[in-house]
Amino acid sequence: MTHRIKVVFLVMLVLASTVSSCRKPDSDDDDGGGGATCSGQVQMTPYTWYDPARFPKAEIPADNEMYVERIALGKKLFYDTRLSNNGESCETCHKQNMGFSASGVSDFDKGLQKMPLVNLAWYKNFMWSGRIVGTLEEVMHAELTKRFSTDFAKINAIQEYKDLFCRYYGTDNITAELMSKPLAQFMRVLVSKNNKYDRYLLGLQPLTLDEDTGRAIFFSERGDCFHCHVQVLATDNMLHNNGIDSLYAKDIDKGYFNVTGNPAHLGMFRTPNLRNVALRTEYMHDGRFKTLEEVVEFYDHQVHIGVKNIDPVMLKPGKEDGLNLTPLQKKQLVAFLKTLTDDDFINNAEFKP
Ligand code: HEC
Ligand code: HEC
Repeated sequence: MTHRIKVVFLVMLVLASTVSSCRKPDSDDDDGGGGATCSGQVQMTPYTWYDPARFPKAEIPADNEMYVERIALGKKLFYDTRLSNNGESCETCHKQNMGFSASGVSDFDKGLQKMPLVNLAWYKNFMWSGRIVGTLEEVMHAELTKRFSTDFAKINAIQEYKDLFCRYYGTDNITAELMSKPLAQFMRVLVSKNNKYDRYLLGLQPLTLDEDTGRAIFFSERGDCFHCHVQVLATDNMLHNNGIDSLYAKDIDKGYFNVTGNPAHLGMFRTPNLRNVALRTEYMHDGRFKTLEEVVEFYDHQVHIGVKNIDPVMLKPGKEDGLNLTPLQKKQLVAFLKTLTDDDFINNAEFKP
């Protein structure tokens, strides 16, 4: 009990010191701005977060409460090329009309495919290999410091940003930690919840016969896709080896092994979210397939079932020589995958610059 009181006291102390350092701009902090000092946070409009029907509960970090103004600041940063030093903005590789993904693999990322940004509020494992585990704030920190090497002297010389951070976070000393916060908020509101399949689940719109048969293949032992690409979110957010490689010729093919060095983790990747999957122009971590038809061919008869750590789902009895789908069934599976395209999401004006 006494220990608990001590902890509470300590937390209060830390809180008190952060609050005071937010309110009073520290004169020792040479922010390089030279402009007016920050006079503190303004009143903001709370953003009412809700988990869409049938979605699990998302966890929002208590130290980054959502406000309409902070989300708008995050969006502004997302589209700003000044965050990088080579003319790129986040949008260069994450375009709304492609489900916040983009064509072509990324050289900076050693040939990894650009990832879609969707329903990240429900994730804990990030990146193809699952190399970041934690919060979106941590992912943003990595994108800023490791990818962009953001020049914070340059950012702190932009009076507009100094004003915005002062107003919405109570300090105008812009650091990578601070900038990660509004960016993470913008990432969180990129929610897709209204594709045709969502509407089908809510009883609002029927699927065509082909789509519905594809759905049945996807969600039955016949296709077994649902074990990893689960129901509403279309990913279990876990790491699996789906038998895509047996040799791991390229460094990036090793997946989670590159994080742990444990051979049992070779070729394991985080299950991708299949929302808006039909909008992508290449598939899998290295973009090796160009069409959904090719992906289905892979699952049908190209899975490397001899791989040591392959997910047991891929080895169920009856799958020794693949799924053996008929040409019509393959077509139907692709038709179902296309129902995951969310037109509301890719046209949502709130996500546009
Ligand atoms: C040059 C292209 C490029 C740019 C620019 C870029 N990204 Fe990415 N992004 C990627 C690639 C590639 C990955 C996957 C990297 C990996 O798996 O190691 C990724 C991963 C992510 C993820 C993880 C998604 C998930 O499902 O785990 C988020 C979130 C993200 N980027 C947001 C951003 C933000 C915000 C910015 C701007 C600050 C940004 N990206 C700039 C290419 C880019
Ligand atoms: C054992 C888990 C598992 C099962 C079962 C599974 N997948 Fe996957 N799926 C994955 C993983 C992991 C990846 C990423 C692999 C990579 O990038 O190399 C993936 C990638 C994909 C992609 C590419 C997505 C993108 O953005 O590049 C599609 C499409 C896909 N799967 C559809 C299916 C379909 C259809 C089925 C059923 C026939 C299925 N999956 C069964 C785990 C699974």
